[in-house]
Amino acid sequence: MSQTSQKVGGLGNWAPDSWKGHAAAQQPTYPDQVALDGAIAELGALPPLVTSWEIHNLKAQLAEAVRGERFLLQGGDCSESFADCDSDAIASKLKILLQMSLVLVQGGKKRVIRLGRFAGQYAKPRSADAETRNGVTLPTYRGDMINRAGFTAAERVPDPALLLRAYERSGLTINFIRALIEGGFADLHHPEYWELGFVANSPHAADYMRMVETIGESLRFMETLTGQVMSDINRVDFFTSHEGLLLHYEQAQTRRVPHRTGWYNLSTHFPWIGERTRALDGAHMEYFRGIANPIGVKVGPAMTPDELIDLTEMLNPENEAGRLTLIHRFGADKVEKALPPLVEAIRREGKTVLWCCDPMHGNTETTRDGIKTRRLTNIMRELESSWRILGEMGTHQGGVHFELTGENVTECVGGASGVTEADLTRDYRTQLDPRLNYEQSMELALLLARLMSQAPAKPANP
Ligand code: PEP
Ligand code: CO
Repeated sequence: MSQTSQKVGGLGNWAPDSWKGHAAAQQPTYPDQVALDGAIAELGALPPLVTSWEIHNLKAQLAEAVRGERFLLQGGDCSESFADCDSDAIASKLKILLQMSLVLVQGGKKRVIRLGRFAGQYAKPRSADAETRNGVTLPTYRGDMINRAGFTAAERVPDPALLLRAYERSGLTINFIRALIEGGFADLHHPEYWELGFVANSPHAADYMRMVETIGESLRFMETLTGQVMSDINRVDFFTSHEGLLLHYEQAQTRRVPHRTGWYNLSTHFPWIGERTRALDGAHMEYFRGIANPIGVKVGPAMTPDELIDLTEMLNPENEAGRLTLIHRFGADKVEKALPPLVEAIRREGKTVLWCCDPMHGNTETTRDGIKTRRLTNIMRELESSWRILGEMGTHQGGVHFELTGENVTECVGGASGVTEADLTRDYRTQLDPRLNYEQSMELALLLARLMSQAPAKPANP
């Protein structure tokens, strides 16, 4: 049966491809429709990358975060590249997220949901459709899933074969992550497995090592007391997420599963809608409303309270906890004004959402030398403001969304190791947005641990 003819009760005329009846922002124009149809059919027949059990497990954990019982740590590259699908890059992303989560567990005394921005983060929204260099204008680069970064006409043509390459790279990434975790890589008894080579010289090494020691001591104490090895901490859950931007790809992996109702996007546990594609009548909203996964929506300064309420009603009509995470990204200067009216509308209408702060995307700037960067001071300022505002308004910040890498890059300015604007060219590797390096990521984890260990703020109007 074709996907179009399978309608689902409760979703009206929704089908995995019903988005095609709506304006779809940020989609490439494929010159070869036959090749595109062939790639989508092939993708639809290949096995899924994740399962509905895992998806439900994540949704249940996010519901716990809504109740303040867990904390969401979402992070990874702005955009993954096929070339970086290697063991070192994958392991170092896992290591930094594990180290940060250890700091959060220790500081917040709360379990942490680890959600990688990986195994599918291969398509990017762009502000312009075309790019001009030396008088030559070509289609813009939209991520490795869509076209190639090199500046030639041939490389910039959207190529449907890349959909399959992206699926395969995602499969390789998730396979390696699963194998590491199953093998005991994430075992809290052995945090030394996650050490990154250069960490000993980090200004935060001492703080981190103290936390590791404390956790090790508590573990040994508990094990002595109970006479049992605490095996449930030998492994942790790791989930995947990416921006659900390229709807052909998302649609191709959207399936029904035995013994459950509804449709699942089985290319990732948690897809999100970007700031540029969240129009209420647009194709992305149409696609996302029909899938059963927990989902995120980026919320920037242009969002109005009424629009946010309409959006939550469309995406979460049952008001289910864990279904909808609002990933807000205003910028340090705008958060004070932009966040409170949205929080107030959500409270007034009784909507259940998880508030998750992305302090990266509202704080991007270009240096005098034309380099895209972000300042750690602004990132920290937005995080602290968001934390305080949500607490004062009687709710809480349940998570964070970072662009980071476990490597020692110089893309963001600031932090204890003192990356300056002049240092940016030393090791600037990102294809798109500037990422936090190891030390900057740890500094933010330590800041969050401090915020989490403080008593929750009292509601302003009890
Ligand atoms: C991103 O997360 O890389 C991104 C493009 O964010 P936003 O949609 O918030 O601009
Ligand atoms: Co980005």
